[in-house]
Amino acid sequence: MITETSADGLRKQMAEELAGYPSLVTDQILAAVRAVPRHLFVPGVPLAEAYSLDTVITHRDERGVALSSSTGLTTMAGMLKQLDVHPGHRVLEIGAGTGFNAGLLRHLVGPEGSVTTIDILEPAVVEARQHLAAAGLGDVTVVHGDGELGVPENGPYDRIIVTAGASDLPPAWAEQMAPGGRLVVPLRINGLTRAATFERPGGFWRSLDADECGFMPMRGPGQTDEHNLSLRGQTGVVVRTDGGQPLDAALLEGVLDGPTTERWTGAVSGDFANLDFWLAALPGFARVIVMGGGVAAGLVRPMYPWGAMGVVDGDTLAYLTMRSTTSGDAPPYEIGVCAYGPGRDNLVDRLAERVAAWNEEMNGTGDQLWIEVHPHDAEQVPDGMVHVMRRYNQIIVGREPI
Ligand SMILES: C[S@@+](CC[C@H](N)C(=O)[O-])C[C@H]1O[C@@H](n2cnc3c(N)ncnc32)[C@H](O)[C@@H]1O
Repeated sequence: MITETSADGLRKQMAEELAGYPSLVTDQILAAVRAVPRHLFVPGVPLAEAYSLDTVITHRDERGVALSSSTGLTTMAGMLKQLDVHPGHRVLEIGAGTGFNAGLLRHLVGPEGSVTTIDILEPAVVEARQHLAAAGLGDVTVVHGDGELGVPENGPYDRIIVTAGASDLPPAWAEQMAPGGRLVVPLRINGLTRAATFERPGGFWRSLDADECGFMPMRGPGQTDEHNLSLRGQTGVVVRTDGGQPLDAALLEGVLDGPTTERWTGAVSGDFANLDFWLAALPGFARVIVMGGGVAAGLVRPMYPWGAMGVVDGDTLAYLTMRSTTSGDAPPYEIGVCAYGPGRDNLVDRLAERVAAWNEEMNGTGDQLWIEVHPHDAEQVPDGMVHVMRRYNQIIVGREPI
C-alpha cells in the first residue's frame, strides 16, 4: 500500500541524491523535484523505482523499442539547468512523455509563467494530462501533435526544451521563440548526441554548451534516417549509421569470421574527449554496437561496454579498441584499431591515422565543441570538424579552447 508519507520520504531522498551532482542542479531545480511527486507520473511502477534517478520506460512498440519514458533525473536536471528557467517565463516542451518534466517546469516558472508541452504519441498525451491533474498541475497545456511544428498559438516562448533526440532545428522553433530566448535540445549529428543550449544571435543558432547524452529519437517526418545492420544475430553486433546510404548486408556478411588486422596508435587518454566528433567526419563513420554477448564470446573487442566508433567501407569494417597502459587495467588507455574484411589493412591505417591526428591536435587540450545551425542558403558559414546537411539546415560542429 502506497502511503503519502512513504512517497514524501522517497521524494526528499531522491532530491538529496540529485544534490550529489552539484554541476547538474540549482536550488530551484531541487525545490521543484521535492515539490512534484514523480510516482503520480509513473502509476503502477514500484515506488522505489519511481523515486530512483533512473529512466522509467512507459511505452514500447510491438518490437520492444522504447517509445516514451520519464527521463532519468540527472539528464533532466542537467538540461533544466542549461535552460535557465526564470519565474514568469513561457516555456514549450517538445516530448511530454509522462508529463513529469512539464510538472517541474510548471514549478520553475511560478504562477506568472506558463508551460505548454506536446507529444506525438496520443496515449502519452492522455496520460500526461491525467498525471498533471493528479499532481495539481492541471494548468499545463498538453497538446497532441508533431513537436517539429511547435505550438504557435501559445507562443512566443522564452524557453523551448526538447526531450527527444532531434536531427535538425526546424523553422517553427525559431519562429516561436521570443527575442533573447533559449533552446535546449539533444541534437543528433552522425549518430552522436549532445544536449546543447542554443541562442539565436542572428539568422542562425549558436550553441553555448554541448553535453554528451543519450535520448530516444524524435519520430515523425523529421526523424533521423538511422540504418542498423545486425552482423551476428545471436551475439548482437550491430553496425549503425545515421543518414546516407543503407549498409549493404550482403557485402558485410560473415565479415567478423575472417582475419583481423590490429594497429595500436600510441594515442593515450583517460577520457577520449570529443574523439567521437573528430571521427564523425570520416566517410562511412559508424558505431559498432554490441547488444549481446559479442564481447564475452571474444568476437569483438570494442573500447566501450556499448561498443565503439568505427568506419565501414563496402565489405570492410574497422572499429576502435583500447588497452590499459598500467598493470591494473586502469586509465589511461591506448587506443587501437581492429579491422575485418578484404580492405582491412588499408582501413585500419585510415582510422589509425585519424586517431593519431586527434592525439596530436585535440587530446588533452580541453577544447570544447561548438555547434552552429544555419539555413541551407546562408551566405557565410564557419569551417568546422563536421558539416552535415539536414532537411532545413546545415549543421557545423567545431572546437575552440575554453
Ligand atoms: C524521453 S520521452 C519524454 C520524457 C518527458 N519529458 C517526461 O518528463 O516524462 C520522449 C517523448 O518524445 C515524444 N516524441 C517523439 N517524437 C516526437 C515528435 N515529433 N513530437 C512530439 N513528441 C515526440 C515521444 O512520444 C516521447 O513521449
